Amino acid sequence: MDTGKPLNGQVAVVTGAGRGIGAAIARKLASMGAAAVLCGRTQSTLDATAQAILQAGGKAEVIPCDVTVLHQWEYVAARVNSTFGRLDIMVNNAGVGRFTEPLHNLVPEDWDRILNTNLRGVYYAIRALAPLMIRGFSGHIINISSLAGKNPVPNGAAYAASKWGLNGLSYSVAEELRGHNIRVSVVCPGSVETELSPHTGKDPKKMLQPDDIAHVVAMLVTQAPQSFASEVLIRPTQKP
Ligand SMILES: NC(=O)c1ccc[n+]([C@@H]2O[C@H](COP(=O)([O-])OP(=O)(O)OC[C@H]3O[C@@H](n4cnc5c(N)ncnc54)[C@H](OP(=O)(O)O)[C@@H]3O)[C@@H](O)[C@H]2O)c1
Repeated sequence: MDTGKPLNGQVAVVTGAGRGIGAAIARKLASMGAAAVLCGRTQSTLDATAQAILQAGGKAEVIPCDVTVLHQWEYVAARVNSTFGRLDIMVNNAGVGRFTEPLHNLVPEDWDRILNTNLRGVYYAIRALAPLMIRGFSGHIINISSLAGKNPVPNGAAYAASKWGLNGLSYSVAEELRGHNIRVSVVCPGSVETELSPHTGKDPKKMLQPDDIAHVVAMLVTQAPQSFASEVLIRPTQKP
């Protein structure tokens, strides 16, 4: 048993773990010794992340899940319980956006897709998995929000609304779960070089990289147990 790693013996669920920020977070937590439970809708990309983790000597389990479907979350909870019997870290990272028209031209289907993924999905995750943490009187929930949850986003109002909502959910749930020794942190990155949006006009070399967000998640989960950072804003050093 590799006792030298800080998350050895811990179990971490990461949503959207097939690519982008979620894949980087899953690889990072696994490199720190956690068993990484990889969730998302696309089996092939989750398998690729799992393969990378296994090749690096880490532990990974793929459990496909559409975060907008409650019974799929209940399946994840049952599998985590039967396989590991515990849950230490949950990173709600899966997200979608649309940044191409003002709100009055956005079709309701896109509003639903964005709000259901970025906000309802996190409610479902907490509904299904927080009881495992409560049972263990321990845990850390990290919600990946955005600076779009702090600022106006013209042509991205639904995305901004979902992330402002996610921040409010996170601060409230943090108070609800403190007494259960569960920490809740919200992470708000600026523009990250991923497939989420075209980031037109920005210099990709100056943008945040997925590993920058994974690094902050690693900092959060290794904070000494008597305190937690409830919110972190992440900006690139050079404006892209
Ligand atoms: N990129 C940025 O500039 C930026 C900045 C701030 C915050 N963020 C936030 O960071 C998070 C990750 O974004 P990213 O940039 O890494 O985007 P990305 O590369 O597009 O990845 C999004 C991930 O979410 C998953 N996903 C989407 N809908 C899902 C659903 N219904 N159920 C399960 N998984 C779903 C996708 O997997 P499947 O499609 O296979 O399900 C994919 O793995 C998001 O919450 C985003 O809002 C991004």
